[in-house]
Amino acid sequence: MPVMRKAGVVLAAVTLIPLAACSSSSSGGSSTSSGDAAANLTARGPFSYVQGKDNSNVVKPLIDKWNADPANKDQQVTFIEQSADANAQLEDLKQHFLAKSSDYDVVDVDVVWTAEFAANGWLQPLEGNLALNTDPLIPATVDSATYAGKLYASPQTTDGGILYYRKDLFPTPPASWDDMTADCPKAKQAGIDCYAGQFQKYEGLTVNVAEAINTAGGTIVGPDGSTPTVDSPEAAAGLQKLVDGFKSGIIPPDAIQFLETESLNDFETGNLAFMRNWPYAYSLLSTDASSKVKNTFGMAPLPGDGNGPGASSLGGHNMAISVYSQAKASAFDFVNFMTSAETEKFYITQGSLAPVVTSLYEDKTLAKKYPYLPVLKQSLDSAVPRPVTPYYQAVSTAIQDNAYAALKGDVSVQQALSDMSDAIKAASSGG
Ligand code: GLC
Repeated sequence: MPVMRKAGVVLAAVTLIPLAACSSSSSGGSSTSSGDAAANLTARGPFSYVQGKDNSNVVKPLIDKWNADPANKDQQVTFIEQSADANAQLEDLKQHFLAKSSDYDVVDVDVVWTAEFAANGWLQPLEGNLALNTDPLIPATVDSATYAGKLYASPQTTDGGILYYRKDLFPTPPASWDDMTADCPKAKQAGIDCYAGQFQKYEGLTVNVAEAINTAGGTIVGPDGSTPTVDSPEAAAGLQKLVDGFKSGIIPPDAIQFLETESLNDFETGNLAFMRNWPYAYSLLSTDASSKVKNTFGMAPLPGDGNGPGASSLGGHNMAISVYSQAKASAFDFVNFMTSAETEKFYITQGSLAPVVTSLYEDKTLAKKYPYLPVLKQSLDSAVPRPVTPYYQAVSTAIQDNAYAALKGDVSVQQALSDMSDAIKAASSGG
């Protein structure tokens, strides 16, 4: 049975984008490799690192540091920077894997892609020569890089949702969604919009919808990771809050097109009282020359349901080595460099990213300098992973399509959840 499922994954993936994959490799002049997990384990040479947009400007200085080290003279790394959109990043990676391209050596893997990539045999298992010590790491981050008991990536940064708020207008952040709703007229008086998250039809919408549903006590799938449980009164109550938010204007209409960057810009220019975003926003809001809220924003846990804070979706990114890489030993050393204790600290100080090393959250000097760390830790502690399945992309599409229809007012919440449940069921069986 597991073998059949795996074959199904490969087939489904291949039928998705076969032509694009072939043409990109031939026209781009890229090279291919056999994809043998036992091959090239000690091979060294120049290699690439592929990641989404370096919003926080952490990657470029690290790449420079690696390349400047005389020991790396013959193993220089080239940074291939993708777009800021999680869905576009995923499609790009898949095209290269499907083409068996050896142009991508080290790849940044969103926590939700691990299962699909590993089930397709695209990632080099981190074992034997390439084994990692995961003891210092937050266990949930190690889980997010593990599939079927094997580690396929090195946790790099984790992510938890945070409520950014205008402390000049609201000295105390709202603890619940209802408190926030009650605060909105004051935002309106100040001439600004009230709340936005990420509601464009992409992975960020899955994140925001899952948070609304989990906060209301609902779930999307059962403990097996595949049986839909989303057609429930609790889940309905969660999605209804977002739908009502759009209906009443608490969420501005243009937020239906927001990804992370757009919501950040809206808050940064002073147009928004409350924003849901990831920790990376802290650094940009406090240092961007264009930030109008440098000294007037605060950070708090996501608003809850009245009994404690909201439930964040667990985000984050892990570094994996492509099974097609022809320089796996160099790639492995680079992965270790990019996830060393020193680099993990740099992720905080340079980009306010969430490190995966447990001890950094207990570091008193850091906590003093970066007062958001305890809020972040709280978000991470209550974070809920998105479904773990090799069919994740189809499951996430089922969530996005149906939630989006409800947010736009095209279908009722009830209908959206019933359709979502059917679509998750079909997706989870590879259908
Ligand atoms: C962040 C998170 C990632 C999530 C993405 C959605 O990058 O770390 O897990 O899927 O946002 O846009």
